[in-house]
Amino acid sequence: MNYFQKDCEYNNIVNHVLKNPKFLEINNCRHHGITRLEHSFRVSYFSYKITKKLRLDYKNTAVAALLHDFFTNDQFSKKELRLSAFRHPKKCLENASEFFSLSDMQKDIIYSHMFPLIPRPPRYLESWIVSMVDKVVAAYEFTLSYYKLYFSKIENMAAIAMLILVRF
Ligand SMILES: [Fe+2]
Ligand SMILES: [Fe+2]
Repeated sequence: MNYFQKDCEYNNIVNHVLKNPKFLEINNCRHHGITRLEHSFRVSYFSYKITKKLRLDYKNTAVAALLHDFFTNDQFSKKELRLSAFRHPKKCLENASEFFSLSDMQKDIIYSHMFPLIPRPPRYLESWIVSMVDKVVAAYEFTLSYYKLYFSKIENMAAIAMLILVRF
C-alpha cells in the first residue's frame, strides 16, 4: 500500500476521479520511467500536503493536481508526442473539463503546470505550488529511472563477466 493510499482524507477527496475509467487509462502510459498515474498521484499528494499545511484550497488542489497530466499517448501523433511538453497542458485541460466540473483555480493549475514551457504563468498560489511540485517530482523520477537503468546495465555486465570467468 502506498503512502497516499493510507491517507483516508486524501482518498476521499480524489475518490471520484479514480472511478473514471477514461482517467484510469493514464495508468497504461509510461511517464518518467513509471506510469503516468503514479506520477500524478505523487504530484497530487505532495501538493495536497503542502497546500493543507499552508491553509490553502487543498481539496481542489489535490483533485486538479491529480488531473494535471490527464492525457493518453494516442491523443498525439508520434511527431506531436516529441513536443508534448509544450502541448499536453491544453489537452489535459480539455480532457479534465470533459469529465469533471472544474473551478477557475483548478483549470489554472492544469493549464499552467508546465510554466515556463508554456508562456502563461500560474495565476494562483496553488497553481505555483503544483507547478513546482511537478518539477521536483519529475526530477526525482528521471533520476531514479536513469539510476535503475545504469545499475541494471552494470548488473548485466557483472553477470556476463561472471559467466565468462566461470567458463575459464
Ligand atoms: Fe505535465
Ligand atoms: Fe506532471
